[in-house]
Amino acid sequence: MRKLILFVPLILFLNCKKQPAIPTGLVTEKAMVVSAREEASKIGVEIMKKGGNAFDAMVGVEFALAAAYPFAGSLGGGGFMVYRKNDGEVGALDYREKAPLSAHKDMYLDSLGNVIPGMSTVGATAVGVPGTVAGAMEVHRKLGSLPLKDILEPVIALAKKGVVVTEKQAARLERVKESFIEVNGDSTKYAANFKPGDTIKYPELALTLGKILKQGKDGFYKGEIAEKLAAFIQQNGGFVTVEDLAKYDAKWRVPIVFDYRDIRIISMSPPSSGGVTMNQIFKMMEPYPVSKYGHNSIETVQLFVEAARRAYADRNYFLGDPDFVDIPLDVLLDDDYIQGRMEGFSFEKATLSSDVSHGDIEITESDETTHYSIVDADGNAISTTITLNGAYGSKLYCDELGFFLNNEMDDFSAKPGVPNMFGLIGAEANSIAPEKRMLSSMTPTIVEKDGELYMVVGTPGGSTIITAVAQTILNVYEFNLSMQEAVNAPRFHHQWLPDMLMFEAEGFEEDLKSNLKEKGYEILEGRTRIIGKVDAIRVLEDGKLEGGADKRGDDTAVGF
Ligand code: GLY
Repeated sequence: MRKLILFVPLILFLNCKKQPAIPTGLVTEKAMVVSAREEASKIGVEIMKKGGNAFDAMVGVEFALAAAYPFAGSLGGGGFMVYRKNDGEVGALDYREKAPLSAHKDMYLDSLGNVIPGMSTVGATAVGVPGTVAGAMEVHRKLGSLPLKDILEPVIALAKKGVVVTEKQAARLERVKESFIEVNGDSTKYAANFKPGDTIKYPELALTLGKILKQGKDGFYKGEIAEKLAAFIQQNGGFVTVEDLAKYDAKWRVPIVFDYRDIRIISMSPPSSGGVTMNQIFKMMEPYPVSKYGHNSIETVQLFVEAARRAYADRNYFLGDPDFVDIPLDVLLDDDYIQGRMEGFSFEKATLSSDVSHGDIEITESDETTHYSIVDADGNAISTTITLNGAYGSKLYCDELGFFLNNEMDDFSAKPGVPNMFGLIGAEANSIAPEKRMLSSMTPTIVEKDGELYMVVGTPGGSTIITAVAQTILNVYEFNLSMQEAVNAPRFHHQWLPDMLMFEAEGFEEDLKSNLKEKGYEILEGRTRIIGKVDAIRVLEDGKLEGGADKRGDDTAVGF
């Protein structure tokens, strides 16, 4: 009897642990899109209701975000897509921007070799050759099932009808209005004062999309649009030419795939650093009983931070465009190498980043970029993160064609050792060269469990993307949170340099921070910005889908 009394709580505990978390986000039977705006999610869902697959939906959502979320979605940007088909086939598409043909290593340096402030971040000089249209058209060519007309017509209709400004959007537009005017003059569409509830229409974008509908990729990269776009960028002092546009192609890459306990994680390969860095973080954590430590406990925070510190140090030194640099992936992703990196880690005190490498850097942080996750009724999944880099990219808006241009050239290391706008310092591997793709942190990710689709996840957030995605996966898998809880949960971040641990403003006890300080962690004080806006989908045991649409933004899950 006594034994039974002792065992019952243990059995109950084990059973409880085995039960997946009860969903708290939107649950649907068959298909779902989670994106930064309801309008874009709805377009993807309508495409799937018409019989389109996840790839058709992706094309629709990608273009719809140019109207619904011009903060980061645009024909003038680029991105990465990771997919998993229902038969288990996985793949990755790189439609990252690239450097123009005239680019060179020192293009953002003055005669004394110093970085010229603003040149790689604001206005036409910051613009890389956009990849968005090539990426979407390549997905449609290879994996789509519906005629392009059925996908683009609703998007064109949305652009013409316009999109209602939300409170958050109005605040963002107000914040950068002066920059819009500085870069584009005061006759630009974005010189206006937008209030919540206003509708912004995009007739010029609708015309550009109409060209793409008629002529596919060439409708954007060759002929009238390409000529107008190149002339516009050059008139404003930039470097992109018609030849640059004509030469742009999206590239299929082999995704980074690794196992963590009994889940398999499929994520983006270089030129994104997301998959490699996350692989290292997970493998450094794997020997430890993470779920026992508890969600956001001091042990979990320390272990995660020390793993991230080491992984980001490798990231910054070794990673770049694989078509230009030899990345020693076999070493970087070797379990023994990775676990060897944790030698010297102790729960007693922080490792100093200066002991991993050195530097003294100011950080600026941002929640730019945007992510969307899609699962269709047949179980195909796509995870896509797209970006203009900064908020509204370079702020350069082509009024005639209806979209913003990226400032992705800043993701190169303009001068090895000097931080970019995310505070990330780069090395030679990420130096500028003609037609090279700049290193990214975007981490579109798909997770399998027992060989089946388990999660689709990703986020915006510059250098914080990788840690936000990793924490979301851990939240579901180790700490048994629902998808929506996992997405909403407070996050923290460390990126090696600056040697600074940052927490979101809400959700962390002062005790935790003071204990960490005592152990030697430098904590960024007074920081109130958010870390990421994760949009994710979890497959439930009964095959239904749970959405996780981040409460930090206007993000919305829609499905059926
Ligand atoms: N522009 C942000 C990134 O690619 O990581």
